Amino acid sequence: MSTLEIRDLHVSVATDDGEEKEILKGVTLTLNSGETHAIMGPNGSGKSTLAYSIAGHPKYTVTSGTITLDGEDVLAMSVDERARAGLFLAMQYPVEVPGVTVSNFLRTAKTAVDGEAPKLRTWVKEVKGAMNDLRMKPEFAERDVNAGFSGGEKKRHEILQMELLKPRFAVLDETDSGLDVDALRIVSEGVNRAKEANDTGVLLITHYTRILNYIKPDFVHVFVDGKVAEEGGPELANQLEAEGYDRFTQAAV
Ligand SMILES: Nc1ncnc2c1ncn2[C@@H]1O[C@H](COP(=O)(O)OP(=O)(O)OP(=O)(O)O)[C@@H](O)[C@H]1O
Ligand SMILES: [Mg+2]
Repeated sequence: MSTLEIRDLHVSVATDDGEEKEILKGVTLTLNSGETHAIMGPNGSGKSTLAYSIAGHPKYTVTSGTITLDGEDVLAMSVDERARAGLFLAMQYPVEVPGVTVSNFLRTAKTAVDGEAPKLRTWVKEVKGAMNDLRMKPEFAERDVNAGFSGGEKKRHEILQMELLKPRFAVLDETDSGLDVDALRIVSEGVNRAKEANDTGVLLITHYTRILNYIKPDFVHVFVDGKVAEEGGPELANQLEAEGYDRFTQAAV
């Protein structure tokens, strides 16, 4: 079993006028293998900032606090090293990579994460199988990464990566946003398959309880103004949907 531990994390971002603005104000969170933690919270509360900070995005500066993976200092690792250590981020807004096909991208990523190229025969089969499971047409493999993909297609491509890269911990940032009802189910099933196959710990950032009907959270964290304001079980998500964030945002003011 593995543990991803975030302790009193403070993160700031350089604004356009050159000032440092603190976004994360002391986030503490422990994620074990096989667990699913949902993070819900108002727009702008810092959820994506947390996701990027775990992945090592250079735009965000960790000013204090720690992130460790089985005791290893994640913050000392480069982005590549984090991926090799088994951390995976499905971005809220996946980026286009013109000139790189999905097929090349996946093989390169797999090679980088595993430290060796996948065996061609089994790899091709595995990619085809995973794409088929996610109801992605085979011709997607030859298209440039995310270029001209619809919102839902981008999200499927993120989960395709998760299924193939088999991370120890996956941060899924609004993987459900923009998905139609069928796609939501298909993508959720993909997450559950990857989770079960690899005992992956999942940090699921979402605004809606709908996805939580498919991907059952063990814990729900309410994120407000750069930190966790409350924690609970799955019932907390339903309560938030019914009541909104008023009682937290009032308190934060
Ligand atoms: N370069 C920047 N300059 C100023 N503010 C920034 C910058 N980058 C991020 N922020 C601010 O940081 C805050 C947190 O943003 P973040 O994307 O983490 O929120 P979020 O919780 O993911 O929101 P959403 O639910 O809308 O996705 C926002 O108020 C955002 O405007
Ligand atoms: Mg966000």
